[in-house]
Amino acid sequence: MIGEERKYQAFYTKSTPIVDYMVSKLSMEASDKIFEPCGGDGVFVEAILCENQFAYIDICELNTKSVEVLREKFSTLPNVNIRECDTLLDNELSFNSCFGGIYDKIIANPPYGAWQDYEKRSVLKKMYPELYSKESYGLFLFRCIELLKEDGILSFIIPDTFLNLHMHKALRNHILTKTQIVELVLFPSSFFPGVNFGYANLSIITLKKKNDYKKCIENSFPIINGFTNVEQLNDINQNTLKIYQFTQEIIFKNPDHAFLIAENSNVLKLITQSKFRIGDIADCVTGFYSGNDKRFLQVIRGDLKNGKNYCLVQTETISKDYNNNADILNGIESEQHFIPIVKGGNFKYLKPENWFMNWSKEAVQHYKTDKKGRFQNPKYYFRSGIGVPMISSSSITASLIENKLFDQSIVGIFPKDESLTYYLLAFFNSPTCNKLIRTINPSANNPANYIKKIPVIIPEKPILELINVKIKRIVDALRMTGSYDENEERQVWEVFEGIYKI
Ligand SMILES: C[S@@+](CC[C@H](N)C(=O)[O-])C[C@H]1O[C@@H](n2cnc3c(N)ncnc32)[C@H](O)[C@@H]1O
Repeated sequence: MIGEERKYQAFYTKSTPIVDYMVSKLSMEASDKIFEPCGGDGVFVEAILCENQFAYIDICELNTKSVEVLREKFSTLPNVNIRECDTLLDNELSFNSCFGGIYDKIIANPPYGAWQDYEKRSVLKKMYPELYSKESYGLFLFRCIELLKEDGILSFIIPDTFLNLHMHKALRNHILTKTQIVELVLFPSSFFPGVNFGYANLSIITLKKKNDYKKCIENSFPIINGFTNVEQLNDINQNTLKIYQFTQEIIFKNPDHAFLIAENSNVLKLITQSKFRIGDIADCVTGFYSGNDKRFLQVIRGDLKNGKNYCLVQTETISKDYNNNADILNGIESEQHFIPIVKGGNFKYLKPENWFMNWSKEAVQHYKTDKKGRFQNPKYYFRSGIGVPMISSSSITASLIENKLFDQSIVGIFPKDESLTYYLLAFFNSPTCNKLIRTINPSANNPANYIKKIPVIIPEKPILELINVKIKRIVDALRMTGSYDENEERQVWEVFEGIYKI
């Protein structure tokens, strides 16, 4: 059984400024037919009725208890119609969207990442084949766009991940070509009482349905961020806010139709027009997973961060010459069959050898056949490259993978021309690279697909050599002493600023 909480994801919109802003964006008229697709306890309905007590409102809600609350509040009103149903699957709604939609206005705070059981997930996949069916809010948004009449307006509060993530590409395509965006505001999830989505910020998107591709693509709209408090939502003209104006065509032409937002126009230019990207000059791949790290992974010291649940590795079981073993991908025959593995964790340039994987023949055979194991991209194991942790704390970091195994929390970057290894190591640890990747994907995640898109400029030989010398010095110092000269690092960063001009 799953908890009620995960099924319904019922975080109610208990913020007057957010509700007021969203209701105001609907530009309501007396004759409007309005839809609230996930009613909850009816905050939006109450706000709408405050403005127009005769507004005709349809509410859908899946949770019986919430439906009871809604009935208690609104069942005496003939203009409010409450139905207990699943907005995503309901036949009546499907029928209405087939015929071009019936609502003038829709307002919602849909569930984010609501857990769908497997049966429902497969139905949803059939109904919305192009969409990312695991993330409920995207399905609600798509469904509601279909339910709007021509020129109908919708206002949704949702995480901002649909703006950049690969899996929401089809949703972006739909928004950009079937609607005119009226306004998009972005703000921290902490503005939303009781909720803090560590992984993303929140957005409110207001859009108008338009069945005219040309009018959609030509539409110009503002993206607004820089909010320091939630009240500013109702005072958008403040000069402390950042307002970026885009046409939908510009966004549509971006790689994967991503909403790229940066103050510095050179950043956008580089991302959209660069001749080369990391994916052109290096292979970017995810690493290995044993399927059961508690059993196969060992740690050098018990007091290591996250290390306390693992066995201590015995030095006499660590292999010294695994790199000379031509058959290493089939495991090691001897007692010394533990090998170092590069794991996540933010270290720059060089990672200490803290983790060791059982690489005996039997263990490797297990990894290759176990359902949970991921013996993926093995041709990159034990090669020289660069590892970037999939999740970065603040800035992206990178360290050398010195002919070691690397695990699935790392993206291994293997330059096609190995002489570029130190240059790329320097680049991935620079604020310049951070600016680029955070524009491509503002969340703290760096999966391989985003890393591949980072624009790359290879400078003239003397500059390349200068960077190589400095980074080798940093790596050597780290190897010898555990620290390095930060002035030297800053100089490298300045060189990158000069190369990229951002
Ligand atoms: C995030 S809450 C928002 C409630 C309310 N609109 C608000 O802003 O306070 C989402 C609501 O959607 C309901 N819900 C979840 N999945 C649903 C579905 N498939 N169809 C209809 N309602 C759903 C939940 O029970 C919950 O009340």
